[in-house]
Amino acid sequence: MLFFNKKKKNESKNFLEMIDKNKIPKHIAIIMDGNGRWAKQRNLPRTFGHKAGVETIREIVKACSELGVKYLTLYAFSTENWKRPSEEVNALMNLLVEYLRSEVQELHKNNVVVNSIGDISKLPLICQEELKNAYEKTKDNTGLVLNLALNYGGRDEIKNAVIKIAQLIKENKIDIEDINEELISSNLYTANMPDPDLLIRPSGEYRLSNFLLWQVAYTEFWYSNIYWPEFNREHLYRAIYDYQNRDRRFGGIK
Ligand code: IPE
Ligand code: IPE
Ligand code: MG
Repeated sequence: MLFFNKKKKNESKNFLEMIDKNKIPKHIAIIMDGNGRWAKQRNLPRTFGHKAGVETIREIVKACSELGVKYLTLYAFSTENWKRPSEEVNALMNLLVEYLRSEVQELHKNNVVVNSIGDISKLPLICQEELKNAYEKTKDNTGLVLNLALNYGGRDEIKNAVIKIAQLIKENKIDIEDINEELISSNLYTANMPDPDLLIRPSGEYRLSNFLLWQVAYTEFWYSNIYWPEFNREHLYRAIYDYQNRDRRFGGIK
């Protein structure tokens, strides 16, 4: 009986209360995965999973904002996702436009900056326009920076940084000796942002899928079997709680 009570208590742990509010990760990155499988489980088309996934975005952005997270980077479309059937790609692009149109007002009210990382010049024009509008409207806000990773690939990002740096050398603006880690970081899409402290991947996959390759050198990883449409703020609190109980040594000794 004692054991039973103990177990029950454990299950209802309030992770929000247990989180140290002075040690909130500055930058959280999330690979929003499992929309398709969530839909398949329910005999629904994959696009229904993506729609349900947008609801999760709303909740998680709000929760991060409330906790005082400074940067939230959401992997929404990778450089490899173009391989998917065009109907699915189109549905994802339409959802992005819908999300921005319906949400920007509320995000602005909540002091959120709507930013994007990735090569957005390859997205449909309407997506580029809505992203620009959202950014222009929210760029002076001082709260959470919401980074939507769109047509984002870690290798593509590093390749682009190499090109930019090579160009600077060609134009005699810098010397080869000036190349260092800071210079590389400052030529990535995430220039001026801290590296992620915590990377969350739901859906039971244990890989990076070309996300933030350079930036996650010392990021803490948190995995879960839950599909993204079912991920909620309680899971986020749990991830942050676990993160706070990790020992980050950065190669040193404690
Ligand atoms: C959403 O999950 C992530 C995107 C690429 C938009 P998926 O569409 O990859 O869902 P699964 O992994 O097939 O379940
Ligand atoms: C990663 O998920 C990309 C996004 C979440 C946008 P994928 O579903 O594309 O990754 P893989 O194919 O399982 O590695
Ligand atoms: Mg997937």
